[in-house]
Amino acid sequence: MALKQNQENNNYPARDNAIEWEKRSINYGASWKSVLFKGMPDLANEHFHSCHINFILECIKSNKDDIRILDIGCGYGRLSLPIIQKLPQAQIIGLDISANYVNLYKENTGRDAFVGTLESLPSEIGTFDYIIVVTVLMYLPKNNLKEVFPNLFSHLNKNGKIIIIEPAQSGIILQTGFGLAKLLHKDNSINTGGTCFSSTEIPNLVHDAGGIVIQEQRIPATTFFFLLIYLMTKTLPQNLTYIIFRSISFVDGLLKRTKLPTLWAFYLIERK
Ligand SMILES: C[S@@+](CC[C@H](N)C(=O)[O-])C[C@H]1O[C@@H](n2cnc3c(N)ncnc32)[C@H](O)[C@@H]1O
Repeated sequence: MALKQNQENNNYPARDNAIEWEKRSINYGASWKSVLFKGMPDLANEHFHSCHINFILECIKSNKDDIRILDIGCGYGRLSLPIIQKLPQAQIIGLDISANYVNLYKENTGRDAFVGTLESLPSEIGTFDYIIVVTVLMYLPKNNLKEVFPNLFSHLNKNGKIIIIEPAQSGIILQTGFGLAKLLHKDNSINTGGTCFSSTEIPNLVHDAGGIVIQEQRIPATTFFFLLIYLMTKTLPQNLTYIIFRSISFVDGLLKRTKLPTLWAFYLIERK
């Protein structure tokens, strides 16, 4: 049933979400290609990683030593690692549908992690100051999304926040244009699928669950230069590429609150 819904609603349907992620975790291990773009050079994925982690670290503001953070769809710990580096006292826990990613997460971060799904968080997991969901909603059948936010809100502490980063429809043309889609999906042995969201979809789900988006950001420059980023990392010397990335990030900073197209939409959410 889940697979059928997936196939009806996703742009790139996964054959079976859990199985495909287990395969991907085994094939790619703890690498950028494991959880970012499979077809992109590492240097380009490193830039996309920075876009994600800069937003997350900006959002996590706490004076408490013992803040609790849940990283849902934690993968091998790409996001948790820099958080632990910045806030070593934080109690951070991972949860993932793939048992292999859970093992990689534990090895990489030295923190605990559990096999589970976003759709059915165990009540014993408790409540958190921050819940991080980055490129995970995109793998859920659209029909299941309504349940997600009420469930996440029930696992938030008072003043707790949810950090969401998911692919946006507005950026998909720039991402898949010029035949680049083929390049990004060139590893046909694994199909982790995924969909993207219109600009109102996630805010509406949050609103219907009694929450509010308190911050929304975009990365228009990275999105417009998506193809260029690919070409640059293939052709230019690394030093020059880093300089150009810094300029692109600077322009993203200037344009982050506009409604321009974006590869991902970045949301900070709380209960009303
Ligand atoms: C694109 S990766 C992102 C991993 C991590 N959030 C990051 O950004 O580095 C998607 C992750 O979500 C996990 N996943 C997919 N569907 C899930 C679900 N329904 N519940 C929990 N995890 C899921 C996959 O196993 C994978 O680790």
